[in-house]
Order: sequence, then structure tokens, then C-alpha cells
Amino acid sequence: MDYKIKKGSKLKGVISLFGDKSISHRALLFSSLAQGSTTIKNLSPGQDVQSTGHCLQQLGIKMISDSASLIVKGQGLYGLQPSPTPLDAGNSGTTVRLLSGILAAQHFNSVITGDKYLSRRPMDRIIIPLKKMGADIKGKDNKYLPLEIQGRPLLGLHYYSPLASAQVKSCVLLAGLYAQGETSVTEPFASRDHTEKMLSSLGVPLKKNGTTSTIQGVKKLKAAEITIPGDISSAAFFLTAALLLNNSELTLTNIGINPTRTGIITALKKMGAEISCKNQKDFNGEPVADLTVKTQRLKAAVIKNPLIPKIIDEIPILAIAATQAQGETKILDAGELRVKETDRIHALYVNLKSMGARVTEVKDGLVIQGPTELIGTKIETFGDHRIAMAFTVAGLIAQGSTTIKNSECAEISFPGFYKTLESVYV
Ligand code: S3P
Repeated sequence: MDYKIKKGSKLKGVISLFGDKSISHRALLFSSLAQGSTTIKNLSPGQDVQSTGHCLQQLGIKMISDSASLIVKGQGLYGLQPSPTPLDAGNSGTTVRLLSGILAAQHFNSVITGDKYLSRRPMDRIIIPLKKMGADIKGKDNKYLPLEIQGRPLLGLHYYSPLASAQVKSCVLLAGLYAQGETSVTEPFASRDHTEKMLSSLGVPLKKNGTTSTIQGVKKLKAAEITIPGDISSAAFFLTAALLLNNSELTLTNIGINPTRTGIITALKKMGAEISCKNQKDFNGEPVADLTVKTQRLKAAVIKNPLIPKIIDEIPILAIAATQAQGETKILDAGELRVKETDRIHALYVNLKSMGARVTEVKDGLVIQGPTELIGTKIETFGDHRIAMAFTVAGLIAQGSTTIKNSECAEISFPGFYKTLESVYV
């Protein structure tokens, strides 16, 4: 489905957003392994999180939903049942990578598949450490879906990950929950720590020291009520749109501001934005706040490590902001973007170029000159939700009309994105 956008006037209002996608996956997975029922509030309704929910249902977990919450009937660490059919992770990297860590230690065998985009993404990054723990896991060409996992007992591992990846770290830590002895993961730079925070809140002994997280095997997980913070990755599209459209002022309530995720706030502030953080609270160990932003002229900045893991999903929208910033913005050390839902560096380059932006594609990022007036055109989303949403914001500031092809892919993380945008668009 095509979505058409015309140059906009301003954004005004107060909105709340669905629960954070990363934390929602973890809430479903960990509550399924807990002893007893968990009530989850503000779970993301996005397709990726639904993929995790469906896989868990295939593994015998019962869930009851009403309009305000979802109740997950946890079956304990060894209560999952074998699925007679392959588990379908859809488009979701988090589903396949986190679930693999759990399934590697079960008393049964599993197969995980996914859609055509996920089937092109590398899985050797989890196959390698899981095998070191004694897992029996095979992928197509040792690297791709489908994954065939023969569950078996695992041994603890001290893993030095070559990547700053929360999906890899979480996979190994989850396998470590079941392993004999201690398991730790050391990363080159700190990635998001939602797994550590939620497991600790469910009674798992977990230590963090610099970029090393260490877990001990446990006998059980506690069930608890979980409220998911608003998704900062979704908020990023609104924060940036309000900065770029004249006379805007927008407040986003109860947004997760875990410091391992707030790279977008750091980067926009570095570019001259003022973003206020008020009414700070705590949702199950995760900090949340109301974020308010007003229109602001931006200046260029260099965005590189150690910030990249904290802004990895927000680089598409940051690149749109960079086209309007005075000077040369460099986004570097972001080679991981080439193996996301699509090659995001190339998708950004192609679409920005077609809108008239001054942009160069480099191996590990983009160099963008600004400010440049963007021109409306047809946007190729490559089936990638964040490319669709980032270029919808670009369409709001572009001359003429912009068409987002396959705009429905936004549903992967943000059902109702276009309606929510229209609701604050004056
Ligand atoms: C995620 C971690 C990130 C991120 C993805 C969600 C998670 O991936 O890009 O959207 O929930 O752990 P990597 O950790 O592989 O970089």
C-alpha cells in the first residue's frame, strides 16, 4: 500500500506510545519461563512482538488478552513443549536470536524459520557462541535460517563478543540461565541492557561490570507484573519531526529513557536540540519520562562509537535530521546497519539521493551535508519499517508530495504510525 505525504505545517499535542519493542519481546519470553502468571501492561502490538507471542504459543504457552493487558501463563524454565511445526519468527531478529538461546537448552528439538528478509540475516553470530556452550544448532550454510536446534544440557561460557549486539548478548545469557556454571558476555561497547534489568527483577543473580554481564544458572524465575515503557525508537520519529517542522511543540509521555537506548537524545542534543525530560518514574527497573521538544535549527555533528549501539535503530531518522543540519554530519562505525531488516546504509543513501540530499555512502555509515531542501519523490522501503517511518518524516519537510511504497511495513514495530502522526499534525 502506498502512503502519500504533503509538506506539513506543524506538530502540536501530547501523545503516548505503545510499549517498547525490545522490552516487550523480553516480557513475553521471560514470563513464559516464570513460575505462574504474569500480567503485562502496554505490550507492543507490533508484528515483531506478535511473532514472539506466536512462537511461544506454538511451544505450549497460554496467553489471555483484554484491552488493557495480557496475562501469560508461565510454565517454568522447563515447561515449554515441543512444537510439531517450525517456529515462525517472521521479520523479527530479536525473536529468533533470543529464542535460540532458550531452545538450545530444552529437552526437545526445534526448527526456527522466518520471512525472506530475516532469512538473509546472519545467524552465525549466535550459532558460534551457542556451540561453544555445547549446543547442537545448525543453520543453512552454517549461517542462515532455518535453524535446527537439538536441545541438550549446556555449559557456562565466558564469551568475548566481536559485536556490540544485545541480541547476541541476550541469546548467550539466556542459554546461561540453563547452563552449568557461570556465563558472561563481554562486548566491545555497551549494548541495550533490558535482558539484564528484567532478569534481575525476576530474581536472577546477574552482575554488570563495564561491558561485561555475568549470569548464574537458576532453578526458577519469579512471575511479576510488568509495565512496558513507551518505545523510544518510535518516539524518535516524532521528536525529529517536531524539531524540523516550524512552530511545533510535542510531548511524548512515559517514554523509556534507559541510558543504553537514549543515543538519539544525545545525538539530537549534540546537534542543538533542546529536549526536556520530566516526571521521571521507574517501570520494573526501567526509567521512563515525559519528553517535550520544540522546533530548533540543527547543526551538524559526528556520531560514532561508543554512541552507535545506543542509537542503532534511530540512525534512519537521524540521517533525515542531518539533511537539515548546518554543516557536515558524519555517521560512522555503523556497519551493523548493513545487516538489519535491510541494508539500511544503502537504503538511506538511495532514498536520500532521490530526494535531492547531499549524501555519500561509506563502508560503515553516511556523510551528509546540510541544510538541503528535500524534494518529494517515491520512496523504496525495502520492506523495512524504520525506512518507511523515517522517510514519512522526510516527506513532511519536502517540497511537493512524497509516496512511501509498501508503507504497511511500519506495522512491524508501530501499528497505527500514520494515524498517530496525523493526530498531532495541525
Ligand atoms: C534489539 C537489539 C538491536 C536492535 C534491534 C532490537 C534487541 O539489535 O537493532 O532492533 O531487542 O535486543 P542488535 O543487538 O543485534 O544490534
